[in-house]
Amino acid sequence: MQNDLHIVVLAAGKGTRMKSALPKVLHKAAGLPLIEWVLRLARSLDPASITVVLGHGAEAVRAAVEGPDVRCVIQEPQLGTGHALLQAGPALEGATGRVLLLSGDVPLLTAASVRRVLDAQAARAAAVVVATAEVPDPTGYGRMIREDGALARIVEHRDATPAEREVREINSGVYVFELAPLFAALGRLGSANAQGEYYLPDLVDIYRRDGRVVDAVKLDEADEIRGINTRAELAEVGRVLQGRINGAHMTAGVTLVDPATAYIGPDVRIGQDTILHPFVILDGSTAIGEGCELHAGTRISAATLGNGVTVFNHSVVQASTVADGAQLGPFARIRPESTIGEQVHIGNFVEIKKSQLGKGTKVGHLAYLGDSTVGAGVNVGAGTITCNYDGRKKHRTVIGDGAFVGSDSTLVAPVRVGEGAYVAAGSAITDDVPDGALGIARGRQTNKTGWVAARVSKSDPAGR
Ligand code: UD1
Ligand code: CA
Repeated sequence: MQNDLHIVVLAAGKGTRMKSALPKVLHKAAGLPLIEWVLRLARSLDPASITVVLGHGAEAVRAAVEGPDVRCVIQEPQLGTGHALLQAGPALEGATGRVLLLSGDVPLLTAASVRRVLDAQAARAAAVVVATAEVPDPTGYGRMIREDGALARIVEHRDATPAEREVREINSGVYVFELAPLFAALGRLGSANAQGEYYLPDLVDIYRRDGRVVDAVKLDEADEIRGINTRAELAEVGRVLQGRINGAHMTAGVTLVDPATAYIGPDVRIGQDTILHPFVILDGSTAIGEGCELHAGTRISAATLGNGVTVFNHSVVQASTVADGAQLGPFARIRPESTIGEQVHIGNFVEIKKSQLGKGTKVGHLAYLGDSTVGAGVNVGAGTITCNYDGRKKHRTVIGDGAFVGSDSTLVAPVRVGEGAYVAAGSAITDDVPDGALGIARGRQTNKTGWVAARVSKSDPAGR
């Protein structure tokens, strides 16, 4: 743990331009709420504490972020960024070292860049070091005003003179502060500005007048400090985050046929030589083995796939395990708590729920297996349905190793089809079928010879 490092994340702002009932920092980019990206960065720095300042939508944000290593404080009303940081004062009572300030809506910042700012603060024992960037269009941002090259103050866009607005070096809103003088100095901020707010950047001017060291570190990638104000920016930043994730998988030996349409969550693991076709979505804690091929339109959520698994187009796998060499789809749906054995073949329009399928079992077409335990080497014919629900409770179906279930059978649970047993096509099986037996449960066929001709002559005696 970095005992001297305390992180404060500002997340009280309203995010009016999102036009949303959801607080801005809870909107997701590349699979995670914006603030979660910021908290992951924060945790990666191994700080002594993390404090999040809440305001708008406080309870929803608190529910999403509060935990053993994250505490929350409330800023009410929201009187500006300086006032926001001030609210963290009581939480940091007695703490020593320095404070890294992050924004809950700036998810692209990397640990490497933050370390540069931390190092700059340590090198000069600065009271504050501001992370900055040079951007082509600085509209809306605070401008870094330098005198003889040295940082003098930061002026907000709305308060800037035309000459100051020409400055393209902007305040990122990320700072490292020496903790000792911080909260006393925040108490001295005024609000005589265009927005009538307590501006945190004004601290630079206060410190400089006090004769303290103030400094700025210009980051190489201006993209990293992009904040999100609109849905369009949310989408753009999502693309950048997704690009980083996808790039890392490609570097590690995964083929993405079309990286622009590969949606891979931040916690997904993928083995070498696996191929993802366009529009594949992998999310949650999904882990994919080596040498798998996932065809277009597949979605795998919180599932584990072994090696050499093929998933054909437009299949969905949720919270289940699929063993090596299995083949699924196209249009297969594996619902939660299922275990698909090695070399299992599941074909088109098959739904599996809360079921275990043994090695080499085949369910080729148009079937529903729910709450079932199916052995190895079983053949489940087209149109087979487990009737697992009696209107009140779910019941299990058990099918033994090597069994053969004929097409269009209904298995009315609870029921067991024995090892090596056969079920005749079209049966409604309500009683157990013993091992090695044939279960046949359907009306007998009778053929009425000459019936068609007889009906025709009766209904149309003239024979026209
Ligand atoms: C701020 C900076 C500006 C900088 C820009 C970078 C100030 C006055 N200006 O401007 O110099 O270029 O960030 O993006 O700081 N917040 C609170 N409570 C408040 C106000 C804001 O928690 O009372 C939070 C917001 O939720 C957000 C962050 O502080 O996470 C920044 O606030 P925002 O209103 O976006 O600041 P800007 O006007 O963009
Ligand atoms: Ca503002």
